[in-house]
Amino acid sequence: MADLGAIERTAKECRDCALHESRTQVVFGRGNPAARILLVGEGPGKDEDLQGMPFVGAAGQLLDKILAAVDLSEQDVFILNTVLCRPPGNRVPEPAEVSACARHREALLAALDPPIVVLLGATAAKAVLGPKTSITAVRGSRIVREGRAYYPTFHPAALLRDPSRKRPVWHDFQRIAKDYRLILSGAADAADDGETEPWPTPDGVESR
Ligand code: URA
Repeated sequence: MADLGAIERTAKECRDCALHESRTQVVFGRGNPAARILLVGEGPGKDEDLQGMPFVGAAGQLLDKILAAVDLSEQDVFILNTVLCRPPGNRVPEPAEVSACARHREALLAALDPPIVVLLGATAAKAVLGPKTSITAVRGSRIVREGRAYYPTFHPAALLRDPSRKRPVWHDFQRIAKDYRLILSGAADAADDGETEPWPTPDGVESR
């Protein structure tokens, strides 16, 4: 299991961008450090900034329900934001803030090394897949890079604003859960013959 303590301590002292001036606290991740699914959100809101945990407000409650609907629990996932400090007034983080936080995200990604990364919304999709990424264009696809599969989908807060987005997100999470179970069974097979878990498809983009 990854030891996230050092990464968390470094993140909690970070003053690399202006968001540190207005934060109550740095919001690190929550979930299981051994999880095989990493969920990446946008940035902490008011509740998260106060409680120091990601996705504990209304969007977080919806996210927990979505996960439960496909039989995933906090044990199956680790949840992190693109930026670890709350943007004032919950505005979208600036590109410079997203870049400043990259060292913490990348350290976490390397430590957790999850085969599945779910990108919740445009900010996470742009941060990870590139700044020109359009979430509506890539949502529902599975993008395999260097053996890791990325699943861009809509942010839970977008579902609260526009319930017509629930159905595609439901579809996305069903696929994620199915792939996850495939990986777990592959990991069990690989453990039997002493190999590390394989990703079952080659690098590339597969659409919905
Ligand atoms: N939205 C996010 O992207 N992250 C949170 O932690 C809460 C709401």
